[in-house]
Amino acid sequence: MTAHGAGSAQFPHPVIADRLASLARRDRGLSIDSLLAEDPARVERFQMEAAGWRLDYSRHLLGDDSAASLVELAQTAGVLDDRAALFDGSPLNHTEQRAVLHTLLRATAAHAGLEQEFAAVKDCQARMAQWVGRVHDGGHRGHRGERINTIVNIGIGGSDLGPRMVVDALQAYRVQGIEVRFCANVDPDDLDSVLAGLDPHNTLFIICSKTLRTEETLYNAHRARQWTLDAGVPEDGLAQHFLAVSTNIEAARDFGIPEDNILPMWDWVGGRYSVWSAIGWSIAFAIGMTRFEELLAGAEAMDEHFRSADATGNMPLWLSLLEVWYVNFMGAQSHAVIPYQQHLVRLPAFLQQLSMESNGKSVNHRGEALGYATAPILWGDVGTNGQHSFHQLLHQGTVLCPTDFVLITGDAVGPEGKQRLLANGLSQMRALMVGRDEAASRASLEGRGMAIDRARELAPHLVIPGNRPSSTLSCKALTPHSLGALLALYEHKTFCSGRIWEINSFDQWGVELGKEMGAEILGALQGSGQRFDASTDALLDGASHE
Ligand code: F6P
Repeated sequence: MTAHGAGSAQFPHPVIADRLASLARRDRGLSIDSLLAEDPARVERFQMEAAGWRLDYSRHLLGDDSAASLVELAQTAGVLDDRAALFDGSPLNHTEQRAVLHTLLRATAAHAGLEQEFAAVKDCQARMAQWVGRVHDGGHRGHRGERINTIVNIGIGGSDLGPRMVVDALQAYRVQGIEVRFCANVDPDDLDSVLAGLDPHNTLFIICSKTLRTEETLYNAHRARQWTLDAGVPEDGLAQHFLAVSTNIEAARDFGIPEDNILPMWDWVGGRYSVWSAIGWSIAFAIGMTRFEELLAGAEAMDEHFRSADATGNMPLWLSLLEVWYVNFMGAQSHAVIPYQQHLVRLPAFLQQLSMESNGKSVNHRGEALGYATAPILWGDVGTNGQHSFHQLLHQGTVLCPTDFVLITGDAVGPEGKQRLLANGLSQMRALMVGRDEAASRASLEGRGMAIDRARELAPHLVIPGNRPSSTLSCKALTPHSLGALLALYEHKTFCSGRIWEINSFDQWGVELGKEMGAEILGALQGSGQRFDASTDALLDGASHE
């Protein structure tokens, strides 16, 4: 498998692709710093605003004519024409014959022809709000009458990453007296540490699973149920302590959760796009329903922008075009997202599922193996922490890794620490761009009093090549609204890249094989005697003897 894909399907739109390839060969030789120095108006041309966010993409190895050709690629691929399918219920997810309608979850009016689905969403939100209100005001209590003070969300993948990240990100908005915890891993250590110190009598679990067939979630849900029973909660008191969200209402009922405690999901919402649905119930418990609605409103504002902006000024499309530019024409395999905001520490993990589960594909819509690359490896961590670890590679390593810096600029009027944070973010972006040559490195060492010979010897190690591309996404404040818009921005970016690559961004067949094998290997660990390959067998033998 190469970075270009092992198959034979060629990158779509060969004429534009050839032109982009030749422009990329030229643009590799550009100096980003000089582009800005010689043409300060570039910053104006290479930026846009949407739903409270500003994207600055002036620090890229991208000439104006290359930018125009990328827009032409998007137009030829019909990406913006395809947007309609995200709003009209077409079966975009063709391998599963499903519509893709997460935008309906944050809509304030029904999309044409989807009045029934919209009514179901509104009904679900009303029930969600009732539950949140009853728990917050003490109307719903534990079976002995104690007030609920802890919510534990049990779910994994899309039923965990979004809610967990948002609850963390919006901790400044938390409702007093309610703690929200998350358990995802099948490793019992996860649930054990989540439950440590909790009292089952004032704990409310949400079993969160689109399918309610997910091994980890079922295993943890049964352990949580047993933990509750062991503490003396009777079977008929469990209804006070368990809620569920699923498309599989029957399985939730079989688990013993009454219908009243179950909120629906729909097969037209993908797991990684489900934070806006009742899968986000834990968010509403954490910050209240009004704030949850603000999150939805932020996403809807970005939907409106995506839906109406043309190609040159469309922010999600531009994030995608930059991705395609670097992955398909510059040979990048990696993309970093670095938020300069501690509460966004889980954003990269959320985006990993969004991007890599959506677009980590190697066949196109027609089932042909791709001869070109798709989603890069997305990773990241918060600034400033990363500066003391992986930024070394960003500055001096050999890997091309375009980076998104996410900045909350309005915070800089606050405490000095926030000014330091912003200064660090801006200086990292600038250092990546301008770098430092050998002469400047020597001068710096000599300026610190180092002997000339030693400075000459050491200087090459201090050289920072610079010219490393980055984008800035900035907004004034991290609020439910701005966070909602940011997540929708990346969702639509993912959609656009998937359309350009002609892949299905909404299925995830790749995760299934491991699950099937997992069941057989568990059987072997439990004595089935089944044998596999020499390596697996040796490890299994070792595990049973240790
Ligand atoms: O295994 C992958 C996956 O299907 C994800 O797409 C999904 O978000 C996660 O598992 C959890 O699925 P569920 O919500 O059905 O438990």
